[in-house]
Parts: sequence; structure tokens; C-alpha cells
Amino acid sequence: MRTRESAPTVPQKKTVYFSRASRSARASADRSAIVDRLKLRTSGAGSFSAPCIPSLSDHYFDKLMRIFEALDRPLQAGELAAMRATFREQLQAGFDSSPYARFVLAYRPSESRPFALDCTLSVVAPSLGEQYEDFLESTGTSEPFGAQPDAMVLQVARDQAHSGPISILDVGAGNGRNSLPLARLGAVDALEPVSTLAAALARAAEAEALPVRVLTQGILDERLEGLRDNYDLVVMSEVTPHFSRRDLNVVLPRVAGLLSPGGSLLFNAFVARSNSRPEPLAEEAAQSVWSTFFSREELTAIASSCGLSLHQDASCVDYERQHSEPGLWPPTAWYVNWANGRNLFGDTSSEPSIELRWLEYRRG
Ligand SMILES: C[S@@+](CC[C@H](N)C(=O)[O-])C[C@H]1O[C@@H](n2cnc3c(N)ncnc32)[C@H](O)[C@@H]1O
Repeated sequence: MRTRESAPTVPQKKTVYFSRASRSARASADRSAIVDRLKLRTSGAGSFSAPCIPSLSDHYFDKLMRIFEALDRPLQAGELAAMRATFREQLQAGFDSSPYARFVLAYRPSESRPFALDCTLSVVAPSLGEQYEDFLESTGTSEPFGAQPDAMVLQVARDQAHSGPISILDVGAGNGRNSLPLARLGAVDALEPVSTLAAALARAAEAEALPVRVLTQGILDERLEGLRDNYDLVVMSEVTPHFSRRDLNVVLPRVAGLLSPGGSLLFNAFVARSNSRPEPLAEEAAQSVWSTFFSREELTAIASSCGLSLHQDASCVDYERQHSEPGLWPPTAWYVNWANGRNLFGDTSSEPSIELRWLEYRRG
């Protein structure tokens, strides 16, 4: 009797179990059918923008594909390859036009195809002047590169001026942080392509009646006008991080040709701690963040090809810190991080692979 009573309970339980399972399977199928159906009524629009770094084109493209996927509008296999190829080409063309170029990929629901996005890809390349307008606005100070001249610039100028006034070319003079004190040691030609900075420098020099001639030109300009060919000192402070490798190969011979025999060329440059060829990503990204770097080998090769020999080589941060007046270090909030390569490598704990160095060459 007990056996009989208990026997039917087992299949009954099973029946309940299967019925719940099938209800939940049905509910889940219904849910995904509804969610799938509602994809027609979802929509998303936006834009994604980043620097045109050719080595990162696949990285950025894959990121975009994840956005499209999340919006239920993945690209179809047929269009994927073509769009990836166009994207790569546009990023390369953008970077070639300017290392500061950015792409903007804008997407919105397609009006003609229900499960697609209409995309437009554009490239914006701010000029050097526009870059500096933004920079000046972001620093919000009238002394964007610091209030004091570089200690190394003054030291080299005083060395050159030991027997009397000298002639000096300050390339990329900015608003005159170095040109104005240099003009107390000799006549200064200040080359500055950004008109806002050149105008500020001209006003400051005039106010103090200092011998500064401001030339609103860039050292890479095809036709440079008004320069001498016998400067005792050519200074380029914080300028080479703007150059490409090709630019430096033009600029060093050009400025070497403007020096008198025995004259000094003093510039600072990011120097790689290793001589091995850098990854294309590091090279491209460095230019986009004002941190182009060079190997010692290539600097030596260019310098010796134009009759320059190395006279001093020192860490900018160490030298400037040691020679700064009490309470005046650092010169700006950004200087130390930038000069230590952190604009490129960020705040990693390891030592960045590049460092800003003072290099003084003398013309034989
Ligand atoms: C970081 S600022 C330094 C300004 C100044 N030398 C100083 O140390 O205060 C870099 C300067 O380099 C200038 N520059 C950039 N490319 C240049 C070029 N091709 N020729 C001359 N100057 C350039 C910029 O306009 C800017 O004034």
C-alpha cells in the first residue's frame, strides 16, 4: 500500500519539472525574438575621433566595429574589408599631411537600410598656429614656456660672449623667454612662425628697447629671408620635438651653414636611450605629442656630415634643476613630465625610453 501510494509521486514530479523547463525555454525564446525584433527600433548615433596614427589604424577600426556591434549594426562581411582599407588609407594620408591630424568617424542610423549605419570619415589637421592657440588658451598664462630663460642657453651664450657682444639666432623663439635675456649679450634674430607669439615677442623687445629683430618665419620655410650667415650662436630650445626625422635632416645642415667658424649650435632634443630602431608606433605617436625623438647615432651622423662636433651633452631636467634659482623650479607645470618623455609614455613606473637632452655642437 505504501509502495502503491508512493509510486505515482515520482512521475508527477517529473511532469512538473518538464513543464517548467519548457515554459522557461519558451519564455527565453520569446524574449530573444522580441529583443531581436526591437533591434529595428533601436538607434544610435555618435562620433569617434583620435589622432591619425597609421600604426593604430587596425586598433581604432576594431574599436569602431565593437561600437557598431553594440549598436546592433555590425558591418556586413562584404563591406568590412573595403571600409577597413579606406580607413587605413585615410589615417595614413592624415598623418602625412600633419602629425597633429585627427580623424573623426561620425555614424548615424541609415535612412535607406534598416540594420545599417551611415558613416562619414573626415580628417582635421590643425596648423602649428592653431595648435599653439589651443595650447596658449589651455595654459592661461602669459609665460607659457616659463618665466626664466634656460640656464644652459645663458651659459653657452656667456661662453661665446667672453670677448664682446655676439650675434645670435633664436630659432622657434616663442614669446622671447630666451631671446630677451640673450639680447643683453648681443644682437638677436628671433625666428618664430606663430604670429601670436612673434607679436608678443616684438612688443616685449620694443618695450625694453632690446636689439631683437623678429622674423615671422619657420626654419623649414622654403625661402628664408633676412638671416645672416655668421651667427656666433644658434639656439633652438624646445623646437626639435616638433620636427620629423626628415625635418631634422634639413634643419641641422641649414643652421650649421648660418654659424661662423667656432660658433655654437645649442638645441635640446629627445634622445632615445637605446640605439635600436624604434617601433613605427612610437615614432608616429611621438610626433603627434610634441616629443619626436632621435637616436644618438643619427644625431652624430647628421652633425658630422655638416661639420659640427659635439661639445656638451647633458640631461635638460638635471641641468636646469641644478642651475635654477631657489623657488623657481620647475619652470612650468608640464616641463618635467614632458622632458622625461611622459607625454608619450604616460605615467608608467618604468623609466621612459627617451629623455630631453641639451646638445651643444661647435662648428669647426
Ligand atoms: C615649446 S615652444 C618653445 C619656445 C621658446 N624656444 C622657448 O623655449 O621658450 C616651441 C616653439 O617652436 C616653434 N616652432 C615650431 N616649428 C618651428 C619651425 N619649423 N621653425 C621655427 N620655429 C618652430 C613654435 O612656434 C614654438 O614657438
